[in-house]
Amino acid sequence: MTSGRVRIAASLLAADFAHLGDAVRAAERAGVDLLHIDVMDGQFVPPITMGAVVVDAVRRVSRLPLDVHLMVREPERQLEAFVGAGAASIAVHLEAVVHPHRTLAQLRRLGVQAGVALNPGTPPDACEWLVDVLDFVLVMTVDPGYAGQAFQPGVLPKIARIRRLVGDRCWIAVDGGISPKTAPLAVAAGADVVVAASAIFGAPDGVDAAVARLRTAVQG
Ligand code: DX5
Ligand code: ZN
Repeated sequence: MTSGRVRIAASLLAADFAHLGDAVRAAERAGVDLLHIDVMDGQFVPPITMGAVVVDAVRRVSRLPLDVHLMVREPERQLEAFVGAGAASIAVHLEAVVHPHRTLAQLRRLGVQAGVALNPGTPPDACEWLVDVLDFVLVMTVDPGYAGQAFQPGVLPKIARIRRLVGDRCWIAVDGGISPKTAPLAVAAGADVVVAASAIFGAPDGVDAAVARLRTAVQG
């Protein structure tokens, strides 16, 4: 269900991994609502990033809900490990899962919020039939794989279309190239969670100022 208030998720992908605990604490102190953890397998997307051991480590230093974005092939093989590590919500890519309805239902049975992530080129209607097992849709506004890419404005009509399809039954998160400039566009289109890596951890004036800017931008 949507809450009516726009939430900010800090993606750890642009944090300093040598000081990950410090980055997590800084984001929490700055008032982000969620921590977004980008899991990449070197197959579905070129890089390899973090696994369940990192989710477990982050859980030990933060009380924030951990939102796991699985950019992996055959994500159904990984669900129990990430739930066990402390994920509160997990998104699987529609392009990577063979039986999405079954996989989303399994996520719910495991006790986490179930999400489907859509690459920029995947049409919005592809998630319509899943709505009965779906807690959220993660709309990619970049081709997944890297932080620091440019927001793709061509995805905006898709966000609006998904909002019409799901009504207020699901939250819609937007991920990729989110900044104080692009976040309001995504929110106006219907997003209620904005995920940001570079705009938070890459800000020259620090995480507090960066989160405050995003908060102001999405409050409109
Ligand atoms: C990209 C990841 C994003 C990424 C966003 O594949 O899913 O979560 O960290 O990075 P920015 O906010 O820098 O575009
Ligand atoms: Zn992500």
